[in-house]
Order: sequence, then structure tokens, then C-alpha cells
Amino acid sequence: MITAYKRISFFGLGYVGLSTALCFANKTFTSIGVDIEEKKVRRIMGGKVPFYEMGLETLLKDCLDKGTFRCTTNPREAVMESDISFVTVGTPSQPNGNINLRYIKLVSRDLGEALKEKSNCYLVVVKSTVLPGTTLNNIKPILEKYSGKKCGHDFGLCFNPEFLREGNAIQDVLNPDRIIIGEYDIKSGDILAEFYRNFYGEKTPPIIRTNIPTAELIKYASNAFLATKISFINTIANICEKTPGVDVTTVAKAIGLDKRIGPHFLNAGLGYGGSCFPKDLKALIPYSKKSGYSPELLETVESVNENQPNKAVQLCKKFLGALKDKKIAILGLAFKPNTDDVREAVSIKIINILLADGAEIVVYDPAAVENAKKIFKERVKYASSMYECLQGADCCIIVTEWEEFKALKPEDLIKHMRTPALIDGRRITDPELFKDRVKYAAIGFGPKIVS
Ligand code: UDX
Repeated sequence: MITAYKRISFFGLGYVGLSTALCFANKTFTSIGVDIEEKKVRRIMGGKVPFYEMGLETLLKDCLDKGTFRCTTNPREAVMESDISFVTVGTPSQPNGNINLRYIKLVSRDLGEALKEKSNCYLVVVKSTVLPGTTLNNIKPILEKYSGKKCGHDFGLCFNPEFLREGNAIQDVLNPDRIIIGEYDIKSGDILAEFYRNFYGEKTPPIIRTNIPTAELIKYASNAFLATKISFINTIANICEKTPGVDVTTVAKAIGLDKRIGPHFLNAGLGYGGSCFPKDLKALIPYSKKSGYSPELLETVESVNENQPNKAVQLCKKFLGALKDKKIAILGLAFKPNTDDVREAVSIKIINILLADGAEIVVYDPAAVENAKKIFKERVKYASSMYECLQGADCCIIVTEWEEFKALKPEDLIKHMRTPALIDGRRITDPELFKDRVKYAAIGFGPKIVS
């Protein structure tokens, strides 16, 4: 008989940690968040989410009011008052592409030290993305060293990847497609499976139980496959652009209806960004090479993605010639809509190239301006609306597909811009409305058929 654990703690209060902790705390469980940043902890305890995620602040306030969630900088307190700890710290890339295990190691030490005093059986669940072998070769030894206890005997250990998307975090936590449990031993896996069945009840998705390295690789394989789909459709888009009369959006819709292909992640654009895909490919490729296999497919996925932002610049030059002193309006800075995250955002690459070419840049984003200011400071101008951004510009590039940009009409460009020209980098405008009224180019939109 497995005890249904209901007291949980989360080490690392980023997107994954805070979103998951709050979804669990809102139903059934009490949850304690731990973070080393005192300012962040104070902010969260004051009811403020330190990043933009729809619905999360309301959830935070509810959970604080109900007393089902609190956070602290004290790992010992969190371990003493919980039965399961989820490790949700970041594993960012180092300049050489290797993942930085610094935070994982610090948390493992903190957990180990706190576990020393724990008398009942405790479960440590690693959610942070780590390469195969890391949990067994790096995390487990630290937990054992600092606790003086034996994994599988005195405490349990699982690797349980998280697949939530930024901007969709709550929905993704509440409705996962599957749960992957990489278990050190059967008892650890039983406890975690029971925990999830307790939370999801009848809505429990398929649970795949496996060993720890397989679960670690599943996370990388998932992200690598999604990145591959994106680079694939961008490759097709590049072919479409050379083919009179062909539009990638129709091609994507048609191939997506084949059940073997599926309709998702076939939106052609300026490439993928964010805190996961670029970092995970950067880590998986050298990992594979080190073990003796060169994953050429993944290297190509990466290089297609690296080239894709250049297309916006090339199209801009096609319209304007030399870019020196030309005013370019950039709509969208976040790596995707509904987030303020600019990590590895395509906008950064494009703006840097345009600035190097001497262009004057005006940007607008509904949420990500503050984060972009940390990167670009005074080097670009910040507009407070889409229309202000267009004012006096020579060319506009849609870089992120925010909902509000979908309202853009040819008249807006004609009214506000010095020379009305649009490059739709995310395929949110209807070419038929724009192409004969302004200079217009869109990713994957082929030239006119000349018969
Ligand atoms: C991703 C994974 O989806 C998630 O499962 C994992 O846990 C973390 O990494 P996220 O980075 O939040 O999530 O964003 P996602 O929605 O997957 O988009 C990633 C990037 O791909 C964005 O830059 C987006 O613009 C781009 N993208 C996505 C495309 O260019 N085309 C598409 O069809 C889909």
C-alpha cells in the first residue's frame, strides 16, 4: 500500500517550478517553493509573479489566501514540511553549449543536507532538463554524500520531465498528454505514480514508467523532434518562396491533415527561440558526438534555424537597398506570443544585424519591452503601441505573432509609414489584402505566377 503524499516542495521558482507548484497547491496539495533569490521570494509572497504568465498571478493570490502555498529561501524548512521535493532549477547553456549544472548541484547539496534530519521516507523528483546519466552520476551521489543516506533505501529518486509551454503553463500542467516517470527503484516510481493519480483522478493521462536515463532522453527527444518539425516547415517555406504561386500555409495545412504528420508545429516563420529548444539541441548534439555518433539531422535543424532570421534582413534589403539610416519597425520582441521572455528570441538576432547595418530601429511588444531594454538599452527606440511603432518607418517586420498584430491593415501602413512595406515573419496577415497595396513579403509566400 503506497502512501498518498500530499505535502510537496519545489526547488527553483522559474516558469516550471512556480507554475507547477501553484497548480498543485490550488487543488489537493500543500506546496512550498524554495528559491535562493530573497527578492524573488519576497515578491512572490507579496502576490506578484516575477514573469508574465497568463492566469498565474490570480492562482498565486488564491493559493496564498487559502494558505496552500508559501515560499522560502530555507531548504531545510521546505524538506521538513514536505514528503516530495521537485527539483525545478534552470539548466542554462554555458558558452560552449554544455549545460550548466551549477544550480542542480547546489540544490542537490541543500536537499542532501536537509534529508539528514528526515526520518520518514522521502522522494526527490528531478524535473529540470538534464542529459542522460546526470541524475544517476551527478545528483544521486551528492544527495547521498550530504545526507549520509542511501538512495533507494532511505530516500527515493525519480526523473520526471516537464513539458509545459510558456504562455500556456497552467493548461499544460492541468492537461498533460503523458507523464514520464524515470524511477530509481519501483517504490520511488509507485509513490510518484500514486501522487499523479491522486492529483489527476479520472483525467490521469498515460503514465510511462522507465529507468532514469531513458526519461532524461525522452525530454531531449521531444524537444528535438518539435524543433525538427519547425526547421522542416521552414525549409519547405524557403522552397515555396522560390516557387511561383505556392504558399507554405496551404502546404502545411494539407500535409498536417495526414494523421501520420499531424497539424501542430507546422507554422513557418523566422525560426524557434526560447529557453528550451536552442539550449537543448546545443546540449544534445555534443552529448551524442562525445558518445561516438554525429547527429547530422539535428545539426541541420540547428543551422536551418540559425539562418532563418537572416531572411527578414534580406527581404528588408530587397525592399530598401542599403539599410543605413533607414527606419525599421519591429513588431514583437518576445520569443513567442503571451510571454515576456526574450531568451534566444529571434528578434534579438534580427535587431543586432539591422543595427550593424546602420538602420534605425523602433520596437513594440505588448509584454517584453522591459526585458528587451536590458539587452538593447538606448540602442533602439521603444514605442508604446503598434501604430506608434509604424510612424515614419520605411519597413515593418512582424517578428512575434501577438494577437493584436493580427488587426494590422494595409491602410495602417499607408497612413503611418514613410514607405509602406511589410515583412510578415510569422504569417499572420492575409497576403491577398496586402500584396497589391504595399510592398509585401511573407515567409513561405511564393512569387506571382506569370503565364
Ligand atoms: C517548449 C516545448 O513546447 C515544451 O514542451 C518544453 O517543456 C519547453 O520548450 P516553449 O519554449 O515554451 O516550450 O515554446 P513553444 O510553444 O514550444 O515554442 C518554441 C518556439 O518555437 C517559439 O519560438 C515559437 O515561435 C516556435 N514555433 C513553434 C514555430 O516557429 N513554429 C511552430 O509551429 C511552433
